[in-house]
Amino acid sequence: MDKFVIRGGNPLTGTVRISGAKNAALPAMAAALLTEEPVILENIPQVRDIETERKLLVAMGADVELGYGRAQHRTTICCRNLVNAEASYELVKTMRASTLVLGPLVARMGHARVSLPGGCAIGARPIDLHIKGLEQLGAVIAQEHGYIEAQAERLKGAHILFEKITVTGTEDLLMAATLAEGETVLENCAREPEVVDLASLLNKMGARIEGAGTPTIRVQGVERLRGARHRIVPDRIEAGTFIIAAALTGGDLSVSSCEPRHLDALLQKLEECGVQVSATGDSVRVSGNGRPKGADVATQEYPGFPTDMQAQYMALATQAEGTSVVTENIFENRFMHAQELVRMGADIRIEGHRAVVRGRTALSGAAVQASDLRASASLVLAALVAEGETIIDRVYHIDRGYERIEEKLRGVGAQIRRIGELLPKRMVAPEVAV
Ligand code: UD1
Repeated sequence: MDKFVIRGGNPLTGTVRISGAKNAALPAMAAALLTEEPVILENIPQVRDIETERKLLVAMGADVELGYGRAQHRTTICCRNLVNAEASYELVKTMRASTLVLGPLVARMGHARVSLPGGCAIGARPIDLHIKGLEQLGAVIAQEHGYIEAQAERLKGAHILFEKITVTGTEDLLMAATLAEGETVLENCAREPEVVDLASLLNKMGARIEGAGTPTIRVQGVERLRGARHRIVPDRIEAGTFIIAAALTGGDLSVSSCEPRHLDALLQKLEECGVQVSATGDSVRVSGNGRPKGADVATQEYPGFPTDMQAQYMALATQAEGTSVVTENIFENRFMHAQELVRMGADIRIEGHRAVVRGRTALSGAAVQASDLRASASLVLAALVAEGETIIDRVYHIDRGYERIEEKLRGVGAQIRRIGELLPKRMVAPEVAV
């Protein structure tokens, strides 16, 4: 297993380019299941979750073509000759978002067999709302041998109110509704930019969707969808991670090819912390003096402060003046990074779903272990300001969602190297997939 070795102390300076959003690319790839024609996706990040999704689609008989050279972030998916409608436990257990194929498969094929994802490091994460919504659209669903089996002649439009806001749940049902008969109204929807990006792709494919980005989405079902070409939105979580890295190290960094509007909650919070941020066009410039002020934060659904930035923010809070209270409202067990940060010298007390972080503690390099994707990012950030060397184990978690993070960090002045297995340049190479 790979490890990162990081020597702290260097402020990050220069320009770093942000990749396409993993969380937008995954539903976009699943959307290709809705049509027989090719779907061309650009700005696909080269991360391990994308490789898992490629495997999932290939196992169903899809033709997935990866671009090379300058087109290396382009993927063409053609689902004309699907041989089965199954997502196996082997793949679903490595990536919960695999359940995004459920809605499109039932809608296009009339049936689907998708493994239940099981537990997760950050919380229970059930998919009951996906299932309930599909049932409301007329699917008959059974659970057997750890799999969800769904059947439907043709889905029928329905009025669906999500009891709780769910991102992939909204996406799953949105995709299913595009091919349902009649109108579907989805209420209490997730408003994340990734949902809006998916709706924009689906509309290019001939779907009739209105209201994505608001709590109510209306879908007029169509008989069939066609192929399309679509560019994936920039990854706001990758951008946010680099922005915090600059603030934390007292650097002067331009984060380019991002969408500053999607970062509003984070940028506002950083301004409250006294970090200088300015957004122009598709770039954010961050100048930190390395001595931020503490500020409380509470995670919320978009446009609130993202749960996917909570761990990284906690790393910043360890270096901020005063005490910051970090409240996690989305997942029940998302403080796994806290204990590892404490091992590096942080002063963090967990009280239920709140973490009380006393700031400006000197961090010192240590051997630490990544537990999930964003938790690993927070350890990388802490290591960038720790005295001495930090060794982070299990960096496969970070490879799930960050494209060559060590190369990007080195490019802006960090001292970081990967040790362990020698990885090929291209993360999507089949031999390195989990
Ligand atoms: C997505 C993101 C993930 C992010 C999360 C919250 C992708 C691929 N992943 O995950 O990075 O952290 O949104 O912004 O886009 N819930 C239920 N029943 C359901 C579905 C969800 O109770 O059927 C609960 C979850 O347990 C959680 C909350 O709803 O407490 C929000 O989860 P959800 O928005 O569904 O997260 P994901 O879509 O899995």
